[in-house]
Amino acid sequence: MEQTFIMIKPDGVQRGLIGDIISRFEKKGYYLKGMKFMNVEKSFAQQHYADLSAQPFFAKLVDYIISGPVVAMVWEGKDVVLTGRRIIGATRPWEAAPGTIRGDHAVEVSRNVIHGSDSVENGKKEIALWFPGGLAEWKSNLHPWIYEN
Ligand code: GTP
Ligand code: MG
Repeated sequence: MEQTFIMIKPDGVQRGLIGDIISRFEKKGYYLKGMKFMNVEKSFAQQHYADLSAQPFFAKLVDYIISGPVVAMVWEGKDVVLTGRRIIGATRPWEAAPGTIRGDHAVEVSRNVIHGSDSVENGKKEIALWFPGGLAEWKSNLHPWIYEN
């Protein structure tokens, strides 16, 4: 099944949103496949956001990501990349619909609580970067109650 890389950013950790965020993905019907609570090195943050290195806000973005511990996770499920982005809400929180994580919990684009992979391909790259040791193998006993096949 499809997988995505989700990261609770330092502001989400500091504001006590870890449980709320994990709960949204769990209750939806996605499976947690990997999770780490960690501080990120500057060079690693630069690598994660390498596609944005030409942006004027890049240095600020990297400083934000290394400003405290993050929760790095892999979630698995049908259409989890796109649906995960919909659960997260628009990049700019003032454009994020109420009911989404950013719509409910964020104000500034530079403090938008959470990251989610923007494509299946980038998800694979990010999972390889953050979880080089592999992921947990398991299947929920509730699977047939959530998925038809
Ligand atoms: P991520 O899930 O974190 O990758 O966000 P995204 O995919 O919704 O947006 P994008 O990849 O374009 O930007 C990555 C992150 O850079 C955003 O989540 C913001 O934290 C930050 N960012 C984007 N635009 C701006 C900006 O104009 N100013 C600042 N300070 N930060 C920005
Ligand atoms: Mg992005």
